[in-house]
Amino acid sequence: MTKLWKKYILWFAQEHVDFRVAEFESIVNLFGLKFRHLSQQLLNPFWLVEFPSDEQALQYASRSIALRSIMELYAHGHKMPEFHEQLKTHVQTNGQQLEAFFKAETFKVTVETYNKHFSQKEKVAKIESMDYLPIEGDVNLKNPTVEWWYLEFYGLDPTAVPATADDIIFGRVLAQGQRHLIKELSLKTRKFIGNTSMDAQLSLLMANQAKVCDGDLVFDPFVGTGSLLVSAAKFGGYVLGSDIDFMMLHARCRPSRISQKVRDKDESIRANLKQYGCEQRYMDVLVADFSNPLWHNRISFDSIITDPPYGIREATEKVESKHNPKDVTRTADMVHYPSTSHYALPHLYRDLLDFAAKYLRLGGRLVCWFPFHREDYNEAILPQHTHLRLVANSEQILAGNTARRLLTYEKYLEYSEETAQQSPSEDAVETTDFRERYFNTNGALETRTVRRMRKAEQREQGRREMELRGKQPVDVRAQKCDLNKARFD
Ligand SMILES: C[S@@+](CC[C@H](N)C(=O)[O-])C[C@H]1O[C@@H](n2cnc3c(N)ncnc32)[C@H](O)[C@@H]1O
Repeated sequence: MTKLWKKYILWFAQEHVDFRVAEFESIVNLFGLKFRHLSQQLLNPFWLVEFPSDEQALQYASRSIALRSIMELYAHGHKMPEFHEQLKTHVQTNGQQLEAFFKAETFKVTVETYNKHFSQKEKVAKIESMDYLPIEGDVNLKNPTVEWWYLEFYGLDPTAVPATADDIIFGRVLAQGQRHLIKELSLKTRKFIGNTSMDAQLSLLMANQAKVCDGDLVFDPFVGTGSLLVSAAKFGGYVLGSDIDFMMLHARCRPSRISQKVRDKDESIRANLKQYGCEQRYMDVLVADFSNPLWHNRISFDSIITDPPYGIREATEKVESKHNPKDVTRTADMVHYPSTSHYALPHLYRDLLDFAAKYLRLGGRLVCWFPFHREDYNEAILPQHTHLRLVANSEQILAGNTARRLLTYEKYLEYSEETAQQSPSEDAVETTDFRERYFNTNGALETRTVRRMRKAEQREQGRREMELRGKQPVDVRAQKCDLNKARFD
């Protein structure tokens, strides 16, 4: 049976390279595809692989965001004579199967180089060097019946381009990957976005990591503007989310587009899904603090996809549940503003993994970002849970010395009272809070409380100085309340 396997070229976009292997493994796992690697250089923009059939190869292409196109391999060589020899042999030995393509009405040959520029004249010369191919149709550059690609790869280092290509490859285009979705779901044209909306490419990669498929129930507990719901719904998931920020969930927060002064009345997460034809997949979003779970024991999610707050561009806060020893002077009709406290990231991730262990179905996946300072990185700082196995871990470098990792966990142990006993203790997750580290890279560590007190002291000082100058200090809190009210009018 092995002889029937076919060889393919996977031609990738050279972007988010660290996510490529993880995405590939997730997709083959999702569809139960069989494959064999023929090349080991996974950082190169092309891989040579074997699939048992075109159907399996096409299934992979039907989901991949990293993939530009998939081609049926005709020839691969490291030197020109070797390449042409291989191509001639392939055409001779597979004449019958290839006949229809060579006899197609119209065709196109694309010449693509990596790490070297070819002039149009050089490209034409490359095509003419294969004049032994029995092509009969006419050239059609816009809409050809058959498309072949001729690829030359000159390594990854732009400062050390070799004189001759390392790899020369030729193949027939079978299908394109799903990169068109990046443009289709672009934040530039999305109805409702915020400062921390996840870009379309990463959102789609996350949905692939989570193996979202038709009919899945997908949850984002830090939903914000719902970018992760958009990609999950695009792959057929039924989506729901929650967020602590009432104004954000009601799309009444300050607009993040420079050109926009006030938000449109019809901005919402539902409107985003409608924009992409996925409204039927929208279940709901609710205002909720993640540290106070509200879910019924019987709910079970197929996947949880989320980007928790890092405490840099948005606060990491939770609703305070401390008992107040003072006499309660409140009456039932009084408005209640619950106090909040800092939700330290180690605790947030402990809660997130606990939540996933409890509410994911067996085999379901948690896909989440984890921010860190690059100097501190080692695998021991990654959140762990006895019920979850870390199956993928890809890095995206951010500004300064910071980065974040896209972590993919799979639930492999059913959650019960007994197994829950084995969960890690609080101490096990006590690592430095990312926010503290971010704002204290050089100097001594200033805790969040100390910084708050210092800032409050500064404000008070400013207020006193204004009064001395005979000026009335502005009530910023009242101003903010008025602004918020106005956003709902
Ligand atoms: C990084 S943003 C998520 C952005 C989102 N992925 C999007 O595309 O818009 C993190 C979100 O977590 C929310 N958040 C912060 N603390 C929370 C808590 N305790 N419970 C629930 N949500 C919280 C913030 O309001 C913010 O919207």
